[in-house]
Amino acid sequence: MGRKLLLEKADVEGIRYFDTYRREGGYRSVEKALKSMTPDEVTEEVKVSGLRGRGGAGFPAGMKWSFLAKPEGVPRHLVVNADESEPGTFKDRYLMEFIPHILIEGIIVSSYALGSNRSYIYIRGEYAWIVDILEQAIQEAKNNGFLGKNILGSGFDCEIFVQRGAGAYICGEETALLESLEGKRGNPRIKPPFPAVKGAWGRPTVVNNVETIASVVPIINDGGAEYAKIGVGRSTGTKLISACGNINKPGVYEIDMTISVEEFIYSDEWCGGISNGKRLKACIPGGSSVPILPANLLLKTAKGEQRIMNYESLSDGGFATGSMLGSGGFIVLDEDQCIVKHTYTLAKFYHHESCGQCSPCREGTIWLDKLLHKLEYGQGTMRDIDLLWDVQKNIEGNTICPLGDAAAWPVAAAIRHFRDEFEWHVTNAQEAQTRNYGLAHYADSIEVTA
Ligand SMILES: Cc1cc2nc3c(=O)[nH]c(=O)nc-3n(C[C@H](O)[C@H](O)[C@H](O)COP(=O)(O)O)c2cc1C
Ligand code: SF4
Repeated sequence: MGRKLLLEKADVEGIRYFDTYRREGGYRSVEKALKSMTPDEVTEEVKVSGLRGRGGAGFPAGMKWSFLAKPEGVPRHLVVNADESEPGTFKDRYLMEFIPHILIEGIIVSSYALGSNRSYIYIRGEYAWIVDILEQAIQEAKNNGFLGKNILGSGFDCEIFVQRGAGAYICGEETALLESLEGKRGNPRIKPPFPAVKGAWGRPTVVNNVETIASVVPIINDGGAEYAKIGVGRSTGTKLISACGNINKPGVYEIDMTISVEEFIYSDEWCGGISNGKRLKACIPGGSSVPILPANLLLKTAKGEQRIMNYESLSDGGFATGSMLGSGGFIVLDEDQCIVKHTYTLAKFYHHESCGQCSPCREGTIWLDKLLHKLEYGQGTMRDIDLLWDVQKNIEGNTICPLGDAAAWPVAAAIRHFRDEFEWHVTNAQEAQTRNYGLAHYADSIEVTA
């Protein structure tokens, strides 16, 4: 059994409500932090824990907190990113829906550390019913003296506000999120200045993912050093993975970042193997933006070692042979899935979600969409495959925000690892228009060890 820190009590009946959550040991970290620690000591524990941001980039949370500017007399804010619109990622939803108080508890402790008296949860618009759950949890915490003025007699005041987005993926990018929070169109800002200096309403702001902030609870309860003992290397603590696609047991799992990818896919404790007795073809291990990996590179690194479900191992080999843990959206594709169709679906999504501010992304995502449409429907040429490669190369690294990279990387990886499947769509144009699956011969050539 893997170690659980966030989902340990997920099955306790009534855990969504304050009384049960409290009876199960909830809000201890608030008592500990506010009664016996200074804000800097809380930040230090988060640094010691090695906690990395769970929103995708994996930036060390304690380091981010220590960058927060603290000019005299200027309010500071904590903004929790609950936008979660990355295809394949649905772990924050699970946490907020079933254990909302762990997020509220984490926000109170984090707000204390950062000196934020007004903290925000910016939540994806489609999660409307979770807004009600969070509002109720906030009210319960307030009724029990954990929010509001002079919390537990500590002199610290804190209010939490929930702000709904309007259904745009780009509003998950932290500066677009801040624009939207301020009531403007969600266009990413040019950086610097970074939010730590000039964030919400021009004030110093920390933006962290839901899971990152919830993880502060076990860190303060048990100490940063204890948290750092779980996992391996710079992948400390536990990670929520939302697993979906062609697997027997889709769902949200908490892993301790030491298990192999093979174990995660085939063990009954986790995904339970590929559905319908099919073979594994490929996987996107960290949400739709990260490079896809064919089965052989997914299970083993280029050096032939077992690939582990953590930041370092999944990125081993760079983008030539590796990928990223990203947001933990684990999408599994079986041998029948068509890589061209799959890449086209993603390209349409990124085209639709581009905010249009910078030309490489605005124009490039249109080109990716159009070229992939041609290839998928049997009207593409070999030159289109090269053009596709050129277009993604010209987007990568040339944009205001990382949505451009997020659109380019899936295309690059698909061509890099499955070029023969793209070529098949050109040489078998007729069949490509009618057949809805990929190259059987390719799946046959993949060596699956489990
Ligand atoms: C297009 C785009 C969408 C993003 N969506 C999310 C999201 O839904 N949730 C999230 O936590 N981070 C998202 N991010 C990352 C945020 O910009 C930011 O890095 C993150 O919220 C920081 O939190 P962390 O350090 O705790 O990971 C997105 C980034 C980009 C470029
Ligand atoms: S990369 Fe795309 S989404 Fe990001 S600012 Fe530029 S146009 Fe907008």
